[in-house]
Amino acid sequence: MRRPRLQTAIAGIAVRDLVRDFGTPTYVYDAAVITERIARLSRFDVVRYAQKANGNLAVLDLMRRRGVLVDAVSAGEIQRAFAAGYGAGGDPPPIVYTADVFDRDALDLVAEHGIAVNCGSPDMIEQLAERAPGAELTLRVNPGFGHGHSRKTNTGGEHSKHGIWHEDLEDCVARARRAGLRVTGVHVHIGSGADMEHLALVAKACCGFARRVGPDVTAISAGGGLPTPYRDEDRDVDVDAYFRIWDGERRRLAEDLGHPVRLEIEPGRYLVAESGWLVAEIRAVKREGANHFYLLDAGFNALARPILYGAYHPMAVAPADGSAAERPLRDVVVGGPLCESGDIFTQDDGGVVRSERLPEAKVGDFLVIGCAGAYGFVMASNYNGKPRPAEVLVHDGKAHLVRARETLADLLRGERIPSE
Ligand code: LLP
Repeated sequence: MRRPRLQTAIAGIAVRDLVRDFGTPTYVYDAAVITERIARLSRFDVVRYAQKANGNLAVLDLMRRRGVLVDAVSAGEIQRAFAAGYGAGGDPPPIVYTADVFDRDALDLVAEHGIAVNCGSPDMIEQLAERAPGAELTLRVNPGFGHGHSRKTNTGGEHSKHGIWHEDLEDCVARARRAGLRVTGVHVHIGSGADMEHLALVAKACCGFARRVGPDVTAISAGGGLPTPYRDEDRDVDVDAYFRIWDGERRRLAEDLGHPVRLEIEPGRYLVAESGWLVAEIRAVKREGANHFYLLDAGFNALARPILYGAYHPMAVAPADGSAAERPLRDVVVGGPLCESGDIFTQDDGGVVRSERLPEAKVGDFLVIGCAGAYGFVMASNYNGKPRPAEVLVHDGKAHLVRARETLADLLRGERIPSE
């Protein structure tokens, strides 16, 4: 799919109008894209959204209304799920806490509300038993292999800190039994942005683990990691083929165990990445030797994926006057305002600066960074004293401010100068 390099509207609303109403930098999400992605996964028994990808309350509310359940990795994310209307109890559980560590505040919330837990470390078993006697739990297993779009997003294999090492599975089931807990599910997540070949291997491995746990298992989870197309040449994954692989394995497992087994999937990026754009203003256009730069009012404080992983994001120019007239293209390096040379959106893994072919632009035009709905705002920071961007959700043709831009006053909140 060839994405346009000149983009005058997002979700049917003129970029110019969005900027007039909400300023820059601003994340804009299209609810229709999220709804459509959810529908594509409807064959799974449970779609459990990994809210770490985008935890905005309006996004969570949208998920909940569409029947999507939620995953939480911290007390803060549990609280977000509650605030968006998710309850604690139920079968399947509306909220699952999946982590390798129980922060004390997370354990308090889990115990108080009876939140379902997916344990990624053996120590969590006794910690849970002490605070929630008799609870059921699921185990996140590290199958000994993994895959991701970057080494930093590969969550399987012995270099990964995630999950219970597959050889320790029986030990953990015994530990749970001794602590008076029952293991009712198995979960495997090998990484983010993995390819289909690797993801397909997981289904077999996961069901093998479930057999080793035994007949108490009533649910398995395929984890997240479904890739989405960032580059023009990337293809959409064949979700139906992926479902068929898992469903086949699940059916054989259910037959062996003698009862139905629920099949969950736990995507983050797949549901939201393509729904989001970061809109920034071009504040400087300049030359450094042979390179031509556009410098924006958003940097890695707003979108960290390029500096962290050399991640590629599609970009387009939105002219300030709203004109859709073609402009000559040129090779441009796109950077932000931060006092750090790595503050470049057009970089490959290892920090190698590259350029992007974009329309001619001048100060005051806007730059629209696409596929920014996942791991965008949630990884934003206040580095260099920058307030985090506003967030806007477009729903039924109307743009709603769903998170106000941070103010300069917000940046000082909680700080004190001790009196002498
Ligand atoms: N389930 C578990 C247990 C996970 O650890 C993750 C992601 C997901 C599901 C969702 O993965 P997804 O479907 O979104 O790929 N900041 C990185 C991604 C880190 C993912 C961490 N865990 C990025 O920007 O690519």
